[in-house]
Amino acid sequence: MKIGIMDSGIGGLSVLHEALHLLPEAEYLFYADVDHVPYGLKTPSQILGYVTEITEFLIDKKCDIIVVACNTATAVAIENLRSRFDIPIVGMEPAVKPAVLHSNDKRVMVMATPVTIRENKLKMLIARVDEEHKCDLLPMPRLVNFAEMEMFEEPEVYDYVKSELNAYKLSDYSELVLGCTHFNYFKPCFRSFFGPDIELIDGNRGTVKHLADVLGMDVCTEEKKIIYDKPFDLIYNSGVVYYASGRVINDENMLTHIMRLHNRLEEVRGI
Ligand code: DGL
Repeated sequence: MKIGIMDSGIGGLSVLHEALHLLPEAEYLFYADVDHVPYGLKTPSQILGYVTEITEFLIDKKCDIIVVACNTATAVAIENLRSRFDIPIVGMEPAVKPAVLHSNDKRVMVMATPVTIRENKLKMLIARVDEEHKCDLLPMPRLVNFAEMEMFEEPEVYDYVKSELNAYKLSDYSELVLGCTHFNYFKPCFRSFFGPDIELIDGNRGTVKHLADVLGMDVCTEEKKIIYDKPFDLIYNSGVVYYASGRVINDENMLTHIMRLHNRLEEVRGI
């Protein structure tokens, strides 16, 4: 079973990382569209063009199923892709529903890219599940760039998040929805502003469980750490082939970068 996972960049690695935990037996092709990141500042027709090309590439590489590990691309293109390609396609959706359900008398903040926030898909989801109008939407496009530069703990990141949150009373919130797969890397930063009680909800586990359902596979319940200490383990021992916009990744620098990102994701997983 070969699973193709795509994103504009390293956000999709957080979905792959969860998939390696829950479906460790599968074979993976991971595609980061580094030539076009960030999608969140592109037009819908540009994004549709990129993901169409990636879908064709993944089909050509004999993937059995595709995961669009990008909320932005899902919001813009998933219906279109499903109508044009026969292969099963799983998308991402900001986890607004569980957040609203868990929120009791508190509010829910949904962080995403500007495109995801403007698109109808999220508006319709919120109209469906947020009867009491508890959700506040916050675009955080610079986090995508910070993530791509592997900047997670730098003062610039904390200053940016602080300034974007300035207008909100953070004690009103019990739930923070990470509506962009790039945002998983910043969990410690979010927690530092919202405090220890905030629930950080990303859609990764739900998406991988849905993927398992579609494939008729059982998820692995054994909890083990996925940490790499040798960059070449990423290609020889993990069952994943990594691509940067159609070019296979096999140089040590890039693999070391990806290795550090997996290790970061493992470190922030339970936060
Ligand atoms: N990781 C993507 C998402 O989930 C897209 C980020 C971007 O390229 O702007 O929305």
